[in-house]
Amino acid sequence: MEIRDRVVLVTGAGSGFGEAIARAFSAEGGLVALLDLRLEQAQRVAAELPKGRGIALQADVSVGEAVQAAVLAATKTWHSPSIVVNNAGFTHKNRSCLEVDEATFDRVFAVNVKSIFHMVQAVVPAMRDGGGGSIINIGSTAGIRPRPGLSWYNASKGAVSTLSKSLAVELAPWKIRVNAICPVMSITGMFQDFIGGEDTPETRAKFLSTIPAGRFCEPSDVAQAALYLAHSDFVTGIELPVDGGRTI
Ligand SMILES: NC(=O)c1ccc[n+]([C@@H]2O[C@H](COP(=O)([O-])OP(=O)(O)OC[C@H]3O[C@@H](n4cnc5c(N)ncnc54)[C@H](O)[C@@H]3O)[C@@H](O)[C@H]2O)c1
Repeated sequence: MEIRDRVVLVTGAGSGFGEAIARAFSAEGGLVALLDLRLEQAQRVAAELPKGRGIALQADVSVGEAVQAAVLAATKTWHSPSIVVNNAGFTHKNRSCLEVDEATFDRVFAVNVKSIFHMVQAVVPAMRDGGGGSIINIGSTAGIRPRPGLSWYNASKGAVSTLSKSLAVELAPWKIRVNAICPVMSITGMFQDFIGGEDTPETRAKFLSTIPAGRFCEPSDVAQAALYLAHSDFVTGIELPVDGGRTI
């Protein structure tokens, strides 16, 4: 799909992977709606995009009405989104599965999984009526090769991979493609929670030793993968590891 002048909605666009994805789609001429819980972060990124080609929207992706309102705002500003990147995520801290409370479990699934339910409800009818679209979900290597201490988060990312494949099959007749990107660990806002303990050179070395390519994922790695998936009209239903070999 050609990205120029398409409306691209990116959730969690105020930081980390989402910020890099928003910038990358903007650089290819997209009209980018940056949705984030933290409006000021989304505004910071939107302000650096070409004038009139980026808007910041505040929404909690786990709340259906908020997602609907954000999609409506983007649609009123330009037109309905052709490309949607479900990137916003949440994790419990790295700890025993017995120490994660129920409210935190619910939050993990609400932000990582139910958000995609809400987004599908909000964007698929217009994509169907408009002749197609591309939905890109940010999963994780956690859903393919889980690490201990992150069980409930890992399960939510497993769900992201499965639902991406299922939606791909179901929505293919409407020319809507659905893919998942599965990045390995990156030094973004979520890093501290993933490692659980103190962020020391020793801890980083321990995690790095599990990535054959010998480095952490960069937000630009994920952004490149998202561009590839948006462009690739015959690619649907894949879980694309961006992981330096972690899941081999
Ligand atoms: N960082 C990693 O190591 C890593 C690895 C694999 C996958 N991921 C996934 O990548 C995605 C992006 O994470 P990141 O590493 O860039 O983290 P990050 O903390 O830098 O960015 C996440 C952004 O999402 C926003 N956000 C959080 N909850 C939200 C909500 N309910 N509604 C709207 N916005 C919300 C935050 O405000 C933040 O701007 C997540 O889905 C995460 O699970 C991260």
